[in-house]
Amino acid sequence: MRTDSSPTTIFRKDYTPPAYLVDTVELGFDLAPARTIVANRIVLRQNPASASHDIVLHGEEIELVQVRLNGKLLDAADYELTASSLTIRNAPAEVVLEIETICAPVENTSLSGLYVSNGNFFTQCEAEGFRRITFFPDRPDVMAKYTVMLRADKAAYPVLLSNGNLVEEGDLGDGRHYAKWEDPFKKPSYLFALVAAKLVCQEETFKLADGRDVLLQVWVEEGNLDKTDYAMQSLKNSIRWDEERFNLELDLDRFMIVAVGDFNMGAMENKGLNIFNTKFVLANPRTATDIDYAGIEAVVGHEYFHNWTGNRVTCRDWFQLSLKEGLTVFRDQEFSADMIGTDSGRAVTRIDQVRTLRQAQFPEDAGPMSHPVRPDSFVEINNFYTVTVYEKGAEVVRMYQTLLGRDGFRKGMDLYFERHDGQAVECDDFRAAMADANGRDLRQFERWYSQAGTPVVTARTRYDAVKRNFDIILSQRGQADKLPFHIPVAVGLLDANGKDLPLHLENGTHAEGATTVVLELTEQEQIFRFRQVDERPTPSILRDFSAPVILEYDYTDDELLHLFSHDSDPVNRWEAGQRLAMERLLKLTKQVATGGVANLKLDSTFINAMRAVLTDEMLDPAFRELALILPSETIIAEQMDVVDPHAIHAARQFMRRTIGASLKAELLAQYHANQTPGEYSPDALSAGKRALKNLCLSYLMVAPELAELKLAQQQFENASNMTDRSAALVAMIHSGAEAGPYLKAFYDDFDNEALVIDKWFAMQAAAPTTNVAAVRKLMQHPAFTLKTPNRARALIFNFTSANPSQFHAADGSAYEFWAEFVIKLDAINPQVAARLARGMDRWRRYVPALQAKMKLALEKVAAQKLSNDVAEVITKALAN
Ligand code: TRP
Ligand code: ZN
Repeated sequence: MRTDSSPTTIFRKDYTPPAYLVDTVELGFDLAPARTIVANRIVLRQNPASASHDIVLHGEEIELVQVRLNGKLLDAADYELTASSLTIRNAPAEVVLEIETICAPVENTSLSGLYVSNGNFFTQCEAEGFRRITFFPDRPDVMAKYTVMLRADKAAYPVLLSNGNLVEEGDLGDGRHYAKWEDPFKKPSYLFALVAAKLVCQEETFKLADGRDVLLQVWVEEGNLDKTDYAMQSLKNSIRWDEERFNLELDLDRFMIVAVGDFNMGAMENKGLNIFNTKFVLANPRTATDIDYAGIEAVVGHEYFHNWTGNRVTCRDWFQLSLKEGLTVFRDQEFSADMIGTDSGRAVTRIDQVRTLRQAQFPEDAGPMSHPVRPDSFVEINNFYTVTVYEKGAEVVRMYQTLLGRDGFRKGMDLYFERHDGQAVECDDFRAAMADANGRDLRQFERWYSQAGTPVVTARTRYDAVKRNFDIILSQRGQADKLPFHIPVAVGLLDANGKDLPLHLENGTHAEGATTVVLELTEQEQIFRFRQVDERPTPSILRDFSAPVILEYDYTDDELLHLFSHDSDPVNRWEAGQRLAMERLLKLTKQVATGGVANLKLDSTFINAMRAVLTDEMLDPAFRELALILPSETIIAEQMDVVDPHAIHAARQFMRRTIGASLKAELLAQYHANQTPGEYSPDALSAGKRALKNLCLSYLMVAPELAELKLAQQQFENASNMTDRSAALVAMIHSGAEAGPYLKAFYDDFDNEALVIDKWFAMQAAAPTTNVAAVRKLMQHPAFTLKTPNRARALIFNFTSANPSQFHAADGSAYEFWAEFVIKLDAINPQVAARLARGMDRWRRYVPALQAKMKLALEKVAAQKLSNDVAEVITKALAN
């Protein structure tokens, strides 16, 4: 395989402290799209923790004009310059470097470093983008104070922003102006940001808990000011929440969010100047769905919370990424749950988290890119912004709270900040703070950071009617030669009426009358005994999904039905339904694979259970919706040794069609009962009703007759919000009914709303009625471009990852399509290309005919000249 530079693997064990530390950085920018001049003055001093006197600066894709060391202009013999570094050997202990470089933002399609989006300048420096702006020790354990001078044309770039506080601004004459920014806090280079743009803002003064007034701003392109309210509200809620839950205050006088249409990820937590993908800022009822609103709240919270967990306390090296990401995801999850406020709302967010883990993290952890939450090695760090580091990392943080309690967790957080504010630290330091603050031994817990793979926990039970003992025997197994984990397993016991039994755990320390206890599984196998149990109970194991594991327990259908109708723990109640569905889906899939789709049957027991949940008005509509969604085709595939995607699709469609037909009256009744007339509000209850109503519609539309088609068409035409409008359109497209005129109407209504056009592409790409030829045709549409990640993802990624029955077309044509666009995207944006490349991770699990074609596609990509990003993914996929 050929790559730009030969890919080197970097190991965690090779960490060495930097030879030089940086005290201050003064940056001067003369901004112009084709040729930006960057002047960089850094004050360095030799690090006593290092023996080296070599100054190593990173630098990529920048042209060096000149370097001065302590005032003296260096010539080429005084330093070593490579394509990725500038090294000055045997430097004095105290050094001032003045470096001038040139870059070309308009040619930067990778969206890392300084780039242009829709005529405006933005930066993205995490993880290693700062080195594409200037030469610098671009590693997170080098923290410095920054002062930034921006100069640019005033008419084209009236707004000049950087981190911290604005200290000076003015005209330069000749149509140019300047702004000087100072960040009072030390930060690693990955948190540097600038924006030079034609933008407008919604702003507000906000009072912090300590009485200080701060200025909050949300910057967007002109014409989008009608879509900033929710982001601003979410920001204010985030600030309040962090004050109340963790006693963490905003430390700046000014906090800015800027929206940009071309962005590789969701958003970025640059100090005081968060830069966001427009998708996570812009919303009004006409353009954004309930899911979009929830995403904005979560991401605004996430980036804001990074100010403490990430910025004030940052990562020593990129192997520690989950230190900030796992913790900050956990914090944004708790924030979103607290914003809903109700127990059932909390449970709904928890179920969503479990679904994400199973849909994306478990497969990752079982595939070629499997890595521990704290990886031991990588080729390209950008490939490790993964669901494992983020979502499994958040589960690991959540387990501290489960083991230590909310108060204990808070004590650990307090100690973490007391010890490490202003430092760049390791995951181990966080664990130590949790352990020390609570007087707990958490040494074994370290394995959650060091061992990859999803642990399997197997439960057996036995009941002794004479002694009235109920034993739960838990055992665990990880991937080969992995040591036992410290696993919190929350358990409850249900009686025959479905009521929780008060628990009496032998040797337990739980409160009198507790109905859920956390068992701590630390050994390979352990027996937990419950006393005073008068009848054989139904165990509810792993309540609230208390650990990111696969739970095996031989539930009977009756037990599952019992849990599905009674479990007081909503997560396990939902889980029982998923298990009932999964058993049937797997059986049906097998039948389809061997005998085709004729003579398939779905038992009335299952249908009745679904009916009961659907019509149970005591249950939160949002919960009912989740309980009625069948496990996805991806999740079903993960349960099978040999994956036949077409059999899975047919089986799941059969089940959906049968539910739709058998529960037609109830679905229709719930459809009407869960309307949300009046002014749109994204609150959880209304969003839950819409979700349930739209799920009813989708079931009714699996095999629609005229009445159902009419219903969808009416909903499309009368919808007062994007949630209902897009749901109706999606239902039409998926049903295979003629949706052309509606698609056209949708497009015409929103042709100047980029985020809605993304939806328009995405919903077509994900429909099982859209084949690869149709996707290629959509690529010819004038609105399609590979250069904007949101657009590329909307069409290409949705097809390759959300449309399995078409992606796995028997002739392999969609695999060829995948290879073609991995290669094309790699030339534009390696980070985005590498994400697409991940789409073939699980190729070895497919039926032989498909597997062979997938391998060919992988080999076709491997034969190209590739970025390190894509090369790492493809190499790992093909490795044995
Ligand atoms: N730190 C960002 C977050 O979690 C992630 C991020 C934004 C990122 N942009 C990126 C990571 C570009 C790698 C490359 O919120
Ligand atoms: Zn983050």
